[in-house]
Amino acid sequence: MIQCNENYLKLQRRYLFREIAERVEEYQDANPGGKIIKLGIGDVTEPLAPSVAEAMHEAVDEMSEPATFRGYGPEQGYDFLRGAIVEHDYRDRGIYVERDEIFISDGSKCDTANILDILSADSVVALADPVYPVYVDTNVMAGRTGHVDAKGQYDGIYYLPCTAENGFVPDLPSRKVDIIYLCCPNNPTGTTLTRKQLKLWVDYALENMAIILFDAAYEAYVREPRVPHSIYEVDGAKRVAIEFRSFSKSAGFTGTRCAFTVVPKEIVAVSGQGRPESLNRLWNRRQTTKFNGVSYITQRGAAAVYTERGRRETQALVDYYLGNADIIRDTLTTLGLDVYGGINAPYIWVKTPGGMKSWDYFQKVLEELNVVITPGGGFGPSGEGYVRFSAFGSRDDVEEAMERFRRGGI
Ligand code: MLT
Repeated sequence: MIQCNENYLKLQRRYLFREIAERVEEYQDANPGGKIIKLGIGDVTEPLAPSVAEAMHEAVDEMSEPATFRGYGPEQGYDFLRGAIVEHDYRDRGIYVERDEIFISDGSKCDTANILDILSADSVVALADPVYPVYVDTNVMAGRTGHVDAKGQYDGIYYLPCTAENGFVPDLPSRKVDIIYLCCPNNPTGTTLTRKQLKLWVDYALENMAIILFDAAYEAYVREPRVPHSIYEVDGAKRVAIEFRSFSKSAGFTGTRCAFTVVPKEIVAVSGQGRPESLNRLWNRRQTTKFNGVSYITQRGAAAVYTERGRRETQALVDYYLGNADIIRDTLTTLGLDVYGGINAPYIWVKTPGGMKSWDYFQKVLEELNVVITPGGGFGPSGEGYVRFSAFGSRDDVEEAMERFRRGGI
């Protein structure tokens, strides 16, 4: 009899956002009619910028003509997009990254998961708690953990609690770990690390020969100069950090799908025989085997983000969501709740009133206000007692949701 991958049996029954979607559907089926406002999953609502849409239309026209039609593209991404990224995301900030260190993909969610393919199954993983659940689940799937305990923590993972007491900034591990996940601006807490705080992590990784998986999917939301946009703003980071970036939240690509991962050529990991191996070479090997690249049309759309007009238009999109974040922060603060994040990030992290359990508060808000938020407990045990509000939504919906909180007094 064929056997399943038992690691999957260690997972919680459903992925967090699937679980929320199913609970909302269930509620909606039982209570049709009311308008439900979704501030749960971080999914964009505003359309693609006109310059992006135009570039995609032109690419469709090219694909429709025999002379300009294209079949398979380079698995690592087209040069026009890799070049634009090198120039605008990095060189303009004084960071030197080469084109062949950039790998275009269809999402940071997949890349943060797939990167585990090139790292040893014996590596010790450290991650923040609360955390984007994909980092945990994919390590469970890869067999890097034991079972989950009553608290909701997996044996074999080193958890770094992020609480109001430490400002949601994880402390350095007190033991040696190999793989460290950092997400800045942070999902779910919406808080950030300063350049100085990030340097401590880079130094730790250099000293301990660890690797940092730096998820910068929300860097476009950074407004304060003390907060880095890239980990490579920190000296030495190119020797220890892989950076994940996405067009999802910066240019509205959650449905269009385009992202990229930077794997510097300086990063080496050792083989079982102690031989240094380039992770850039291994990732290239993995991608060329398992991935056929992102569509030409999508990459043309992503490249348009870097034109002068594209940058103006996508900046306006980010400002719009940050405006929503301000409204949510201000309203909930005025209502007397403890509110964090939402300044350099599209997520607002809020303490539940009266110490209510986060799933209970989620359910209460769903049933009494018809608003969907995300229970903090779904991001890990230290998220218990908190909920996350997403600032992705239309302005009208955000204002209506806040009005319901004001009226509902919960
Ligand atoms: C979230 O809500 O945490 C994000 O939308 C998840 C994601 O980007 O995959």
